[in-house]
Amino acid sequence: APLQTRNTFGVAARAPWLVSVDDAAALPEALAAAPLREGFALAIGGGSNLLFAGDPDGAVLELSGRQVRVLEDDGERAIVRADAGTVWHGFVMQTLAEGYAGLENLALIPGTVGASPIQNIGAYGVEVREFVHAVEAFEPASGQWRRFDNAACAFAYRDSLFKREADRYLIAAVEFALPRRAAPKLDYAGIGEELAARGIAAPTPLDVAEAVIAIRQRKLPDPAVLGNAGSFFKNPIVPAAQAEALLAQHPALPVFRGDGADTRKLSAAWLIDGCGWKGHRDGDAGVSAAHALVLVNHGGASGAQLLDLARRIAESVRERFGVAIEPEPRIVGARW
Ligand code: EPU
Repeated sequence: APLQTRNTFGVAARAPWLVSVDDAAALPEALAAAPLREGFALAIGGGSNLLFAGDPDGAVLELSGRQVRVLEDDGERAIVRADAGTVWHGFVMQTLAEGYAGLENLALIPGTVGASPIQNIGAYGVEVREFVHAVEAFEPASGQWRRFDNAACAFAYRDSLFKREADRYLIAAVEFALPRRAAPKLDYAGIGEELAARGIAAPTPLDVAEAVIAIRQRKLPDPAVLGNAGSFFKNPIVPAAQAEALLAQHPALPVFRGDGADTRKLSAAWLIDGCGWKGHRDGDAGVSAAHALVLVNHGGASGAQLLDLARRIAESVRERFGVAIEPEPRIVGARW
């Protein structure tokens, strides 16, 4: 099966099988039958956080169910359950239309609901971990259905249990706890300005979503037009002392809170920009001219060419700033 339209980088790759399971309840049966009996190489969602540096060496499995249901709603908070294959952005807009708040800062993130907890998607000051109530998953090795509450997901910046143990669990559905009313989060650079420019003083969650959409459309290339997987690198988390030392040398370096008191998160985009990569192009593999953190496929780049470029970028950042940056997308067919 061709995978070129199954990854937002738009790189050519093939899998011997692509199996789509619509009804998650049929998953155990599907896994027991050919071609999945011999195992699968990869579970795929929207393909927006994947780089095929080579072909998967077995079947690719997709959970394609898209049902959304409100499980409970006490007038203040609802539990909304969505199947893994539900398109993330459509889900966000649907919850807002139904009067639930919370997910507005996460509008327009590519991908599916099932993928959202894996890397704990985040943008504009919000991470999905704040709203994940539970994750329902099947564990092929044990043949058991598993339910993970928020704490069991072990979320961290762009990380979770599901990312650390790739493909051990097949996420079938996610339940979100969404408030009816919540104070908008406007602190992240740009949102307040965007709302002010629109003349909105008391924004609704939908107003915030629209501002976020406008900012994303200005800053990030649309994968439907120019292949990309969003940020290719995570913002590196370093010891606070190292951040201080770097800041002394480079006063403009953006430094954010880390996970704990002794760590800081640095802007990978700034570090990459500082090495002169923005807009760089090697054949069809390139760095976005709009955002240094985004690798782009100008048309015919292979995954291996994109990976090669990524390695050279990381090497130059390490040489110039002494900081190791790591890829955010999952790399298939090669090791970082
Ligand atoms: N910057 C540069 N050069 C650039 C772009 C940015 O120097 O080309 C500097 C600017 O100083 C800017 C700072 O980097 O203020 C931060 O940039 P931005 O606000 O775009 O955020 P980011 O840290 O680069 C993260 C997420 C994005 C998310 C934005 C907004 C990661 C890896 N990326 O990017 O998520 O949309 O914040 O919240 O954490 C994704 O994960 O795919 C993604 C797009």
